[in-house]
Amino acid sequence: MATPRAAGPRRRAPRTFGPQLDGPVFLRELSREPIVVTHARGAVLYDQHGKAYLDAAAGAAVASIGHGRREVADVLRDQAMRVAYAHPSVFVTPPTIELAEKMVARAPEGFDHVFFTSGGSEAVEAAIKLARQVHLAHGRTERSKVVSRRTSYHGATLGALAVTDQAERVAPFAGILRVEPKIAAHYPYRCPWCAGAGHCGLHCADDLERVIQAEGEDKVIAFIAEPIVGSSAPGTAGDAAYWRRIREICDRHQVVFIADEVMSGNGRSGSWWAMQRTGVTPDLITTAKGIGAGYASLGALLVSGRTYDAFRSRRDDFRHGHTYSGHPLAAAVGSLVIDVIEREGLLERVRRMGERLLGRLRETLGDHPHVGEVRGQGLLLGVEFVADRASKRPFDPALKLRTRVRQTCLERGLYIYPGGGSAGPLGGDHVLLAPPFVVDEDQVDAIAGILREGLDAALAELPNG
Ligand SMILES: Cc1ncc(COP(=O)(O)O)c(C=O)c1O
Repeated sequence: MATPRAAGPRRRAPRTFGPQLDGPVFLRELSREPIVVTHARGAVLYDQHGKAYLDAAAGAAVASIGHGRREVADVLRDQAMRVAYAHPSVFVTPPTIELAEKMVARAPEGFDHVFFTSGGSEAVEAAIKLARQVHLAHGRTERSKVVSRRTSYHGATLGALAVTDQAERVAPFAGILRVEPKIAAHYPYRCPWCAGAGHCGLHCADDLERVIQAEGEDKVIAFIAEPIVGSSAPGTAGDAAYWRRIREICDRHQVVFIADEVMSGNGRSGSWWAMQRTGVTPDLITTAKGIGAGYASLGALLVSGRTYDAFRSRRDDFRHGHTYSGHPLAAAVGSLVIDVIEREGLLERVRRMGERLLGRLRETLGDHPHVGEVRGQGLLLGVEFVADRASKRPFDPALKLRTRVRQTCLERGLYIYPGGGSAGPLGGDHVLLAPPFVVDEDQVDAIAGILREGLDAALAELPNG
């Protein structure tokens, strides 16, 4: 008997794609074949052959509400049919107004304005330019430096890269980048002052005061840092005392304090903003990734009333903007993402699944001879690998342990986000774990189990492994 065909429109047979390396798409990594992903649901990506990959990093802390939500497609279609574009110098659209209202209502107290961008690097550029214009408004024209922390990552555009401190990303552009001052990272695991002391003596925060004085009291525009570090040393986070000290130093020297929440914002910490967990309020917050949730290219700069008023006192326009700033389709998506997070209680779920994942990682990897630290908050977690646990010596960067672990995990159906440089010029290998907020218990347990298998397989490949 013939099998009845499913009702509905006939679909074209899916095309199968051949090798893509050196093909027309200019790829980012040119040492291996990319995987052709054709669809995704929840916390799982599928390639063109049907192989499933558990998306344990939500891309790079992007796909917050999970993949494949039909209601997002409906909102996009609807908005595209109303108005897809109107230039942001003259026009503003309802989705953009509504998203700004929603973000302000959930922002730390005192934040009442939002400048939209298309991503995180653009948000960082906007923050730096706004901070500069705040100083100009007060006649402090000689201020030109932006201080950041060592080993940090704040984006790929030249301004954001200048406040980044990752040799691999920065070195090729040394001659064309500004040299911005760096202070010590807040990194208890490798802290030269307090490692092993069990508490932070705040020397790393005081380094900001030292650098501001060394640069010149009237030379620094702003300080930028991540409240919970994402890709560059995933999961490290200063406590309330650290951020209070940073706030005091910024206030003392009239330095604008920018919290980079491109990864940690929009619920990933278990609160809307990671800074809310510290009780300390910055002047500017940059964000992106999870607010567009992978469905739209969206970033934002949240501006405190105090900063906005200082800027407005000059009665000048904001001398900055991009063609796609405040795009209505992206804003419509962002607005829906906030609704979904609240409707489905996803902040609470992030806290619950984050604790479970941290616990499972510690059970599975905590006593591994090549795991130095397992850390993080909410669903923003990191596992750092070391060649030797006692001395915390990192692996030789030439061994490329992190990319090997990514590969062995991919073979086992797990996608993780590898990184390096946490140990500074000495290297350092780690992975970021930041799954979609909809990840379930079984998937959380699978992440920890497969990561352990993948790590052991990668170690076995090393010379003398
Ligand atoms: C903390 C932080 N800031 C800025 C950026 C840059 O964001 P984008 O890649 O959207 O430009 C990133 C990206 O990973 C990030 O993690």
